[in-house]
Amino acid sequence: MSALFVTGTDTGVGKTFVACALATALRTGGRRVGVMKPVETGVVDRPEDALRLAAAAGDASPLDDICPYRLRAPLAPSVAAAGEGVVIDVDRLVQAIARRAAGVDVLLVEGAGGLLVPIAGTTTFLDLAVRAALPVLLVGANRLGTVNHCALSARVARLAGLDLRGFVLSQPAAQTDESSATNAEVVATLTGLRCRGVLPHLPDPATAATLLEIDDLVDG
Ligand SMILES: Nc1ncnc2c1ncn2[C@@H]1O[C@H](COP(=O)(O)OP(=O)(O)OP(=O)(O)O)[C@@H](O)[C@H]1O
Ligand SMILES: [Mg+2]
Repeated sequence: MSALFVTGTDTGVGKTFVACALATALRTGGRRVGVMKPVETGVVDRPEDALRLAAAAGDASPLDDICPYRLRAPLAPSVAAAGEGVVIDVDRLVQAIARRAAGVDVLLVEGAGGLLVPIAGTTTFLDLAVRAALPVLLVGANRLGTVNHCALSARVARLAGLDLRGFVLSQPAAQTDESSATNAEVVATLTGLRCRGVLPHLPDPATAATLLEIDDLVDG
């Protein structure tokens, strides 16, 4: 049993894409993979991230176990919850993560947005990762600005005592910029983190599975 928190430098940088690629890679390696998106916002009809993660992992758990809080407004969880009169119970999420991790070889947990996005009051995804004792994989978009965003995220994660297992740069848009050739090396040097992969713009996450370095990324 082990778990990994897939966080990002921002919303839309490729967390779900990378987590799905990772799920495929781990499954190919023979591991039973579970997934969680503890809070998904912007859910009009179906929680798209949770369902994508579940499909990639082959996780047939009930949706309430995969994604306990599904909120309509495309806002930070605490804000979307307040608008619907919901209070997100962080203790419940910590317990749910532990319970789900116990039932699989690897549990992948995707945050929403970045580390300092609030879940309830001043409690953030960073706090959730700390309380659930989750090691962290950081995802950034391979475009200009990512060096600063990755370095900020890595620094705040370290200050909180989180176990950072490396970073992945993904490419959400077909077009990128000149920085994409050097970003990974600069982030690795600046943060001391291992680059676990640089993904070009690809047709689907499964195609990216072999581009990730997953050795000792997860325990056990
Ligand atoms: N390497 C890539 N190749 C092709 N498309 C990508 C790649 N990385 C990300 N994308 C696409 O970019 C968009 C944003 O990526 P994704 O949904 O994974 O971001 P996210 O960080 O999970 O966002 P959120 O904060 O909403 O959860 C998606 O449409 C995704 O399919
Ligand atoms: Mg996502």
